[in-house]
Amino acid sequence: MSNTSPDWPEPIVRVQSLSERCIDSIPDRYIKPPTHRPVSASTSTSTSDANIPVIDFGDFLGTDPDARKLVLQKVAEACNDWGFFQVVNHGVRPELMDKARETWREFFHLPMELKQKYANSPKTYEGYGSRLGVEKGAILDWSDYYFLHYLPLSLKDYNKWPSLPLSCREVFDEYGREVVKLGGRLLKALSINLGLEEDFLQNAFGGEDIGACLRVNFYPKCPRPELTLGLSSHSDPGGMTMLLPDDQVAGLQVRRGEEWITVKPARHAFIVNIGDQIQVISNAKYKSVEHRVIVNSDKERVSLAFFYNPKSDIPIQPAKELVTPDTPSLYPPMTFDEYRLFIRTRGPRGKSQVDSLKSPR
Ligand code: OGA
Ligand code: NI
Repeated sequence: MSNTSPDWPEPIVRVQSLSERCIDSIPDRYIKPPTHRPVSASTSTSTSDANIPVIDFGDFLGTDPDARKLVLQKVAEACNDWGFFQVVNHGVRPELMDKARETWREFFHLPMELKQKYANSPKTYEGYGSRLGVEKGAILDWSDYYFLHYLPLSLKDYNKWPSLPLSCREVFDEYGREVVKLGGRLLKALSINLGLEEDFLQNAFGGEDIGACLRVNFYPKCPRPELTLGLSSHSDPGGMTMLLPDDQVAGLQVRRGEEWITVKPARHAFIVNIGDQIQVISNAKYKSVEHRVIVNSDKERVSLAFFYNPKSDIPIQPAKELVTPDTPSLYPPMTFDEYRLFIRTRGPRGKSQVDSLKSPR
């Protein structure tokens, strides 16, 4: 299936339709160079039981100050050691999480003609997509996605959200509201842990005017999972990501040194990770961490990545409080609009973007 949008460098192929056609091979465009494959000579996939920390967030809102301190401490350790953690007892209803994921799964199972009405272009990326980046001839990832804006309200446009399944808009409206609340609470915890006022990060993100968007990832079955990736290694360009993973199928891997750790999702947990903008504001006290997704030959996988971002047109720079003679400012101010052009042009490329930003000194 292809669309005729002139904005992409070549016709778009839906990975889902490829998956239905390909029995025992995949097109060359999806075959990664050997060092980027899931099992390569330069990195290894951990065979240990290592997992990212799982944190019970319940006590953060409770009245027991000691219990709250303990939660903060666990969050601080996770941010320092991993840049990734899972939260349970986070305040978002488990039924709502399941409903949101299964509603989106249903969307991807609709007939292709219906989905094609929402085909996206690289101008805004909103809608149904199958690639990130516009470089002609690029090697592609084994996934389709749906991208939409939830905040600011000026960008929220129901016409760009699917009209089917019928409950989609209503379910995602409620889901967005709840996940935004969770995002605010998490930013408070991070601000306190960085030694800043509890509203510091929220204010640096634009206060009430933050950006929030959703990328629903659909990873179809793949006959040659050892040759490709569902999503290439990247760090998230935004502020913080709250990911609702598939409840049946693992696939997310987090980089730790030269190893890739496969995340084992806890039931009804959100997987939280630090994005590049928090690395910048914290002057690299907290670092965004590379992650990628592997696919498999038995089962499709659906995940909902909710991005909690700074307002897109305000300068983002290291907090003055964290800039000292010993820890000089590492990054020049840049708006998130400017920043995200990189990934939208070149596609996912590890941490090369935030690393390239460092002010020369
Ligand atoms: C993302 C992402 C991970 C996953 O969408 O940025 O990293 O498990 N997704 O789908
Ligand atoms: Ni990501």
